[in-house]
Amino acid sequence: MSKKIPLLIDTDPGVDDALALLMAFADERHAVVGLTVAAGNVGLEHTVRNALKLCEVAGREDVPVFAGTADPLLHPAEDAAHVHGRDGFGDVDLPAAARGAEAEHAALAILRLSHQYAGELLLVALGPLTNLALALKLDPTLPQRVKRFLVMGGAINGHGNITPMAEFNIAFDPEAAHIVFSAFPQTEVADWEATVAHGLLHRDVEQWLAADTDKARFYELISRQTRLWSEDSRGEYWYAADALAMAWALQPDGATRVERRPLAIELAGTHARGATVVDWNRQTGAADNTALLLAYDRARFERQVQAALGLVD
Ligand code: BDR
Ligand code: CA
Repeated sequence: MSKKIPLLIDTDPGVDDALALLMAFADERHAVVGLTVAAGNVGLEHTVRNALKLCEVAGREDVPVFAGTADPLLHPAEDAAHVHGRDGFGDVDLPAAARGAEAEHAALAILRLSHQYAGELLLVALGPLTNLALALKLDPTLPQRVKRFLVMGGAINGHGNITPMAEFNIAFDPEAAHIVFSAFPQTEVADWEATVAHGLLHRDVEQWLAADTDKARFYELISRQTRLWSEDSRGEYWYAADALAMAWALQPDGATRVERRPLAIELAGTHARGATVVDWNRQTGAADNTALLLAYDRARFERQVQAALGLVD
């Protein structure tokens, strides 16, 4: 078998983060070399605890977990506990994992691993971009060592999920997002609107989660509350944002439509702080710093979710 692609994931688990992490663990072509944990969906204490628990359930205690920064760079932000539960994993009273996080800060771990896997690293961000922004401030040469960089975030036509124009991960820490999108010459973006275009039918998800596997049972439990909330407030499709981003990261050839454009972060807007402003008509003269996911092979996405839950290989 050829050498595995080293995969570093910055994440704020979070129910859809958990599914994305299970997908990454299930993929034989990639080796997860670390989880750096951000605050976002819920506070850092919970997101770190959830990352450790997920590794334990998946039998991946070999994957180091690094705690990052508890607050956004500049302005306080509200979490998404109303979606993911107060503890971020559906409030089902899970016992804590036996192991704790590493002593190294997430931003330092990102830099160290970028040296260790220079030129090969696939870096995927599934939460607010605070840790990555800090890493970039410590060492602006980081992008030179990253082979591919992919972000779940943004709303590329202005249809946000946390405000009318902004998506949660970017709106939680817009200054961090600005630093990150300005620093990487090329960022692959799986935004909220792509998520909505690739919703999973609740009735399919329920069927997959009824499977007789430990991973399906665990995921059924932690996602129950958010799936009920989603069915009530959003209808028959469930939107697993981080899972779609991870599908694209793991199997890039599943993307059927991608557009490259300049993208900037709105920092000052009265109504649009945290919006991802895409220069669709290339009016600014800025470089095409993003590849925007518009369509992904649905069957491949669903198969990756099923593999993550242990239903298929
Ligand atoms: C993003 O925000 C979080 O709530 C999810 O985990 C996902 O990363 C979707 O907007
Ligand atoms: Ca997330």
